[in-house]
Amino acid sequence: MTTSLPPFAIAPDGVDPRAVPRRRLRSGAEIPAIGLGTFGSDHVGGEAVAAAVVGAASVGYRHFDCASVYGNEHLVGAALQTIVGGGVRREDLWVTSKLWNDQHAQDDVIPACRKSLADLRLDYLDLYLVHWPFPNFHPPGCDASSRSPDARPYLHESFMRTWRQLEKLIDLGLVRHIGTSNMTIPKLRLVLRDARIAPACNEMELHPHFQQPELFRFVVEQGIVPIGYCPLGSPGRPARDRAPDDTVDVEDPVLVRIAGHHRLHPAAMCVRWAVQRGQVPIPFSVRREHYLGNLRAAVSEPVTPEEMGELAGIDRGCRLIKGQVFLWKDGQSWADLWDPGGEITPP
Ligand SMILES: NC(=O)c1ccc[n+]([C@@H]2O[C@H](COP(=O)([O-])OP(=O)(O)OC[C@H]3O[C@@H](n4cnc5c(N)ncnc54)[C@H](OP(=O)(O)O)[C@@H]3O)[C@@H](O)[C@H]2O)c1
Repeated sequence: MTTSLPPFAIAPDGVDPRAVPRRRLRSGAEIPAIGLGTFGSDHVGGEAVAAAVVGAASVGYRHFDCASVYGNEHLVGAALQTIVGGGVRREDLWVTSKLWNDQHAQDDVIPACRKSLADLRLDYLDLYLVHWPFPNFHPPGCDASSRSPDARPYLHESFMRTWRQLEKLIDLGLVRHIGTSNMTIPKLRLVLRDARIAPACNEMELHPHFQQPELFRFVVEQGIVPIGYCPLGSPGRPARDRAPDDTVDVEDPVLVRIAGHHRLHPAAMCVRWAVQRGQVPIPFSVRREHYLGNLRAAVSEPVTPEEMGELAGIDRGCRLIKGQVFLWKDGQSWADLWDPGGEITPP
């Protein structure tokens, strides 16, 4: 498929990619400490996302967070080819993709990864994640009340059968690192116990109003790099992911005040906080001034330890991506998906 992509050209007002901090993984490899999200939230088309990928690379991004379910990997692939064709070495890029929930069966994993590789026009991925720990299919774009008739809870043996295939992807040289997403501490404990190759990263919702301090500490202690999604509080998220009690990070008065001291936009402040705390934020934007501002925030002067303390204090425990569509039986609350009480919710 052809797209009208902008050319790749290093932007004079961009950020030198070598100045962007990096996080070391247990393999010794390094991941850029900020990436560009590529989920168009059901309202930004793939062409616009692909154009943003080229634009973001031009201003200094080298890390792109993709997934087959975003439905745009074939377009993002054209963007990556433009970037590499424009002179960026493949080894200087970090590309993540994710296994969707309808591909957990043993025989489906490797073909699903090969499909993402073909779409992204790559020989290997830097990171391949299991997008959700539930093998429950629901159509992209469905609303929060949608339920799969075949929905199942987290079953560890079945997750490990999927994981063994991800390990095989490393053996095959198709993937450099493997990881998890949307996990909890009790699930991760079991995976760490049984994995031949431990997760290198865990992608999780992280923003100032949803800091997940326990899970954050746990993954860091286990040598897993936390990648933070919805780092700005996802102001453009789909309607199905909006609830009346959700709070708005970029309107938080403490965050707005500290952002003002540092002459940062409140969204950029979320990025600065994330990078300084030690997670890897992956903000989405298709607007140049936004994605450039977010990248600049990643290399801006640190806020003070006192300000970081104040920002730790604004956590509201406000989970935005609740995951209702993954519920497997009637009468459940979305909280059951997140193992409240520290035990895996029984089937
Ligand atoms: N693993 C998972 O299950 C999972 C779940 C959700 C998301 N993700 C990943 O995480 C990425 C980021 O999450 P997200 O897209 O939901 O939320 P987000 O990055 O927190 O927010 C993106 C929204 O913020 C706006 N924005 C970006 N920079 C801005 C700035 N400097 N000032 C003002 N507004 C700004 C964007 O609009 P404009 O385009 O207009 O700038 C967009 O509407 C996704 O794209 C995806 O790659 C992963």
